[in-house]
Amino acid sequence: MIEVGVLGATGYTGAELIRLLGRHDQVRLKFATSRSSPDQSLAKVFPGAPDINLIDPVQAPIEDVDLVFLCLPNGQSAEVAAEALQEGTRVIDLSADFRLADPELYQKWYGQRHPAPELLDEAVYGLTETERERLPDARLVANPGCYPTSVLLALYPLLLESVVGGRVIVDAKSGVSGAGRTPKLATQFVEVAEDLRPYSIGRAHRHLPEMETMLARWGDSDLRLIFSPHLVPIPRGLLSTLYVPLRSGWVESQVHHLYLETYAEEPFITILPLGEVATLRQVNYSNRCVIGMTEVDGMLVITAAIDNLRKGAAGQAIQNMNVVFGLEETTGLL
Ligand SMILES: NC(=O)c1ccc[n+]([C@@H]2O[C@H](COP(=O)([O-])OP(=O)(O)OC[C@H]3O[C@@H](n4cnc5c(N)ncnc54)[C@H](OP(=O)(O)O)[C@@H]3O)[C@@H](O)[C@H]2O)c1
Repeated sequence: MIEVGVLGATGYTGAELIRLLGRHDQVRLKFATSRSSPDQSLAKVFPGAPDINLIDPVQAPIEDVDLVFLCLPNGQSAEVAAEALQEGTRVIDLSADFRLADPELYQKWYGQRHPAPELLDEAVYGLTETERERLPDARLVANPGCYPTSVLLALYPLLLESVVGGRVIVDAKSGVSGAGRTPKLATQFVEVAEDLRPYSIGRAHRHLPEMETMLARWGDSDLRLIFSPHLVPIPRGLLSTLYVPLRSGWVESQVHHLYLETYAEEPFITILPLGEVATLRQVNYSNRCVIGMTEVDGMLVITAAIDNLRKGAAGQAIQNMNVVFGLEETTGLL
């Protein structure tokens, strides 16, 4: 039995993780933390959540568990991760603190010095499908962002065969839980209801360097994205539509075959028949990523859907844990 702790249990990803861990037959949740609701039941904070007693993070017995999941805001995870690793406890961090290997890039995009730059080299980027070989026995896993999960899974097969013939445009839409539970004016009901709002468009969103780092690692360091996220007035779900110019010589049936082959063995990736589109109904409350595509005049139009709290966060974190500890990858997720 793997013993785990969850820090940040009262957030959207933390609570989702705890619900999923309740179905995992090879994991025991030893503690869950909250600064705002210590000594209360999670069920009181989230009606319908498991009846688990929350403790203050300073009392968390990090040294007594095999793994901690850090569901904390960006900038709050790194120090806790360093402490856990010192105690011999593995870490899966859902924040962005270990996703960028370059501390200067982190400072530029997250507005603060990296709290534990000495750990950046050892962090494994946890996009499970593409980084699976590096995960077994990893001590520190940087769980990917929700937008990058959909965009990178949608682009990976094309990078393998250098099929991308020019600049890629990504138009992405996320439900409001993507912004977290901590109250902010921009995500209050009256602000989001009956609206559809682009934000940080072009090359201004923090997930841009995360995506381009991976594209460079996969061989295309010149590929620059135009990335335009939107806030949609729904609780959960994330859909990215990508416009990809194809290199000459590639036709849609060949490209479609490339996706089918690349992801043939993947339990959580579904490639739709040519011409069909991915939608949120196909993925919400699951760990799946559904990808559809069609070609228009040499431009491949890809749709990629995930549930931001599952494949985009807590589900993928459990998938990574399963690989790190040598369990069946789908355990607790089907
Ligand atoms: N939401 C998504 O779809 C999504 C997807 C992928 C990745 N992520 C990332 O996952 C992390 C958690 O996201 P979330 O959406 O779950 O956020 P959230 O709903 O705002 O929850 C944050 C949690 O952290 C705790 N917390 C806040 N400040 C803290 C501090 N200074 N020290 C210790 N604990 C603190 C909060 O509870 P207390 O105040 O009670 O301690 C809460 O439990 C973030 O880094 C986010 O970027 C989120």
